[in-house]
Amino acid sequence: MQQVNLGMIGGGTVGGGVYEAIRRNGALMASRLGVSLNIRRIAVRDLKKARAVNLPARLLTTDWHSVVADPEVNLIVELMGGTTTARQVVLAALKLGKPVVTANKALLSAHGEELFAAAQQHGTNLYYEASVAGGIPIIKVLREGLIGNRITRLFGIVNGTCNYILTRMKDEGADFAAVLADAQRLGYAETPPDLDIDGHDAAHKTGILASLAHGFWVNPRQIHTEGIRSISRQDIGFAGKLGYTIRLLGCVKVVNGIRRKKSAIGNRQSAIQVSVYPALVPNSHVLANVNGVFNAVLVRGDVVGDTLYYGRGAGQDATASAVLSDLADAALDLKCGTKNRIPPFVPHERDGAVLPMDEVVSRYYVRLTVEDRPGVFAKIAAILAKARIGISSIIQPEGHAGESVPVILMIHDAPNAAMRRALASVAMLPAVKSPPVMIRVESFE
Ligand code: NAP
Ligand code: HSE
Repeated sequence: MQQVNLGMIGGGTVGGGVYEAIRRNGALMASRLGVSLNIRRIAVRDLKKARAVNLPARLLTTDWHSVVADPEVNLIVELMGGTTTARQVVLAALKLGKPVVTANKALLSAHGEELFAAAQQHGTNLYYEASVAGGIPIIKVLREGLIGNRITRLFGIVNGTCNYILTRMKDEGADFAAVLADAQRLGYAETPPDLDIDGHDAAHKTGILASLAHGFWVNPRQIHTEGIRSISRQDIGFAGKLGYTIRLLGCVKVVNGIRRKKSAIGNRQSAIQVSVYPALVPNSHVLANVNGVFNAVLVRGDVVGDTLYYGRGAGQDATASAVLSDLADAALDLKCGTKNRIPPFVPHERDGAVLPMDEVVSRYYVRLTVEDRPGVFAKIAAILAKARIGISSIIQPEGHAGESVPVILMIHDAPNAAMRRALASVAMLPAVKSPPVMIRVESFE
């Protein structure tokens, strides 16, 4: 049987998982593929490090160059993370005509266009199923399963760490910092975990999905990104009482009918919203019930309608499963000599544009802390009315004695710029005692 020799760069959480999964299911894969996968070398940073998965010392080296250059190595698996050395590793392998499998969404977000072009130039391929949504084969879904659809909506819970934290804060009233420490211990979080908490990891993934779905490379700087640092147990509690669950959502939506004269995207009639922010999700919606480290991606195609993909979004085994899927594709492509059967990314939309967040229209939950005296509501309502922003309901939760009380406003559809400016004015009112908290409400229309 033909054998493909792997050179792995990285033997940490994911690398260890891939080693273990090949040990467990390598023979099964070989019988299914007609090609066997053999790990020939593994580059790590520290040969003496104690590892949860025992990697044989004879395979280990600290010299990634020697792994990439080894003439017996046919396929490089980049699992080291980061964007500087990882970029050098991937480019070095592609230049030698060796296909590369990577789980590195930060790398693709920052250098995807360059790396895809290098793969094409050197007649080889770059595979990245594990870069988005852990064990869910969402890259295959967009590139193959839904190839005959125009994607009109994509909503994703794509960061396992944030979903794990939000779930435990809601279910147990757990403390943010303590749950984050658990997520790190379980191997879910990035290094540093700010990449997760501040929404950047979800933005990397959402950008990759948006680019695949819409055929032009979405610049990460155009992705409006908010994380979960400011989400308090108080807001999780109020949202719950209103029938919502807070989730960090990646949103990719086609927005039609942009005819506003002053649009930053010129005369285009449509563009895409690409954003990451915490959102109130109605409890009746399936995404409100995606808990813990699980991810889910809802994709709406113009032919198929709504489809939903669910699974573990982070961690050793889930990610290893996605890497194995890429290894199978790469091994089959090597076996059959079809290195470019499915190229990593095919730009086909010349006129694509991302709608600036200021022009995106959303609904909102707003929590204000105000002095408990007559006339305060009237002043807030006047500011919102002047900005043509409609209030759908006002709730003053009971049981809050004292000089300052919370007030929850649910706001009708309004452009983000108008909302931002209006809340800045509300914050200036002497009766408003702390900065307003604003969370968007998603209706999935
Ligand atoms: P990790 O546990 O920190 O492992 C990184 C590995 O790379 C370690 O084995 C490290 O060596 C090695 N390494 C770092 N710099 C090196 C260098 N210069 N030369 C050789 N080896 C080097 O990270 P991870 O969680 O496995 O993540 C790896 C990649 O997968 C990242 O891109 C991450 O974003 C992505 N990913 C992770 C998950 C997840 O759930 N963890 C899920 C999806 C995607 P030592 O072991 O000696 O330190
Ligand atoms: N840190 C990432 C997460 C790993 O929590 O989703 C999976 O990409």
